[in-house]
Amino acid sequence: MDRKQVILSPEETGRQREYEQKIRALHQGRGRTPLALVDTFGCQQNVADSQHIMGMLRAMGCEFTRDADRADIIVLNTCAIRDHAEKRVFGNLGALTHTKKKNPDQIICLCGCMAQRPEIAEKVRTSYRHVDLVFGPQAMWKFPELLYRVYTRRGRVFSVEDESGTIAEGMPIVREGHTRAWVSIMYGCNNFCSYCIVPYVRGRERSRDMDKIVAEVRELADQGFKEITLLGQNVNSYGKDLEPRHDFADLLRELDKLDGDFLLRFMSSQPKDASFKLFDTMAQSRHVAHQLHLPVQSGCDRVLRAMNRPYDRARYLELINYARKVMPDLVLTSDIIIGFPGETEAEAMETVGLVRQVEFDALFTFIFSPRPGTPAAKMDDPVPRAEKQKWFDTLCATQNDISARLHARYVGKTLRCLVDGETDDARWPLSGRTAGGRLVHLVGDKSALGQYRDIKITDSNTWALFGEMV
Ligand code: 5AD
Ligand code: SF4
Repeated sequence: MDRKQVILSPEETGRQREYEQKIRALHQGRGRTPLALVDTFGCQQNVADSQHIMGMLRAMGCEFTRDADRADIIVLNTCAIRDHAEKRVFGNLGALTHTKKKNPDQIICLCGCMAQRPEIAEKVRTSYRHVDLVFGPQAMWKFPELLYRVYTRRGRVFSVEDESGTIAEGMPIVREGHTRAWVSIMYGCNNFCSYCIVPYVRGRERSRDMDKIVAEVRELADQGFKEITLLGQNVNSYGKDLEPRHDFADLLRELDKLDGDFLLRFMSSQPKDASFKLFDTMAQSRHVAHQLHLPVQSGCDRVLRAMNRPYDRARYLELINYARKVMPDLVLTSDIIIGFPGETEAEAMETVGLVRQVEFDALFTFIFSPRPGTPAAKMDDPVPRAEKQKWFDTLCATQNDISARLHARYVGKTLRCLVDGETDDARWPLSGRTAGGRLVHLVGDKSALGQYRDIKITDSNTWALFGEMV
């Protein structure tokens, strides 16, 4: 695709900023500050997108609330990755009929990955008539224009066409706190894993220009952000569409030159595009955390082929063995799907065997959920849910033992952690993260919030470490 078509022109983005000002004027005409509520479902990419939506809302003069009854504008930023995620959103949407009854001027918007699914948009059109605006992830940049249409036409607006996907630079943003920030480095996915809806709803892969990313990260570092996470559906294929071509390791190397006391993380990665060069770059860098989230999905070669994941178990092991060789302190996590159509018990147990062999620090585990429109949804799936649940429980129990064992190895050590959260638990009022991303519950003073501190680990369990400041 021609880059000129991919990157939105400054005139187009400028037009959106003008719409924000027009809406701001409308709001001012009402004589009170409008309140907006943005609810986010799903992955980190959605969290990052919501920060831009909030940025646009703030430019329109809105303040924010968590109370749906008081909100003038409600935005649900949704996820389509599994059926369960969609059901939750419909539950929430249903509840909003009551808030709208009390406040008929309330504007309800549905965006994100679900909104880009034609069946969902249709269902909302016919059965959720209190929803005013529906737009998919490809149309997020024109939220101001779409909302302006809702205001001025007094009709419902749907922007869910299958667009090829763009890159919008310079969208306003409201970041949460001053410690952690997310930076999208690319959008979309070209991999078409056979179970996955993402390529259908987020369009083709497109990378932001390297200088734009470097400038954004520099600004965040200068502002004192301590953890900056680079986001993409598949960060390892960053730059394939750039001219001159740079790869993800090149980007990390550039970012590593920046000054400041901050850690760089990234997610997600596809094993097919992960390279030794990337691991060498991570190992040699100052800023890049020795943390790798490398979804394997299955430990069985036949299932990997059926999933359209172009690597095998041996290649996966080769990759992580190398990564661990150059980074002995690497924290490794993964995603696994159990019960892919046609998977047998023996095949599921091959995955459990791989988990035993690799000893991941943690896993994100899922039972296969058919997504309409994907090839896997049409495959024969004879195994009953209860059977899959048993395999899934075996996998989880296996991983829980491993996580507990690996966590116990931290006890007695002193680690540099970023203290970044408060808890409701009086015994451990603070929380933090190790450089590898492990959660630590902490005893200590609130003045450490937002700072790196040396933490002595005193205890651990399956899910977390416990410690005190030294
Ligand atoms: N069913 C179950 N899990 C899925 N994932 C993606 N699509 C599906 C699906 N249809 C999981 C994969 C992916 C993670 C984000 O969600 O493991 O890596
Ligand atoms: Fe989905 Fe596969 Fe792309 Fe990840 S790499 S978003 S699992 S299609």
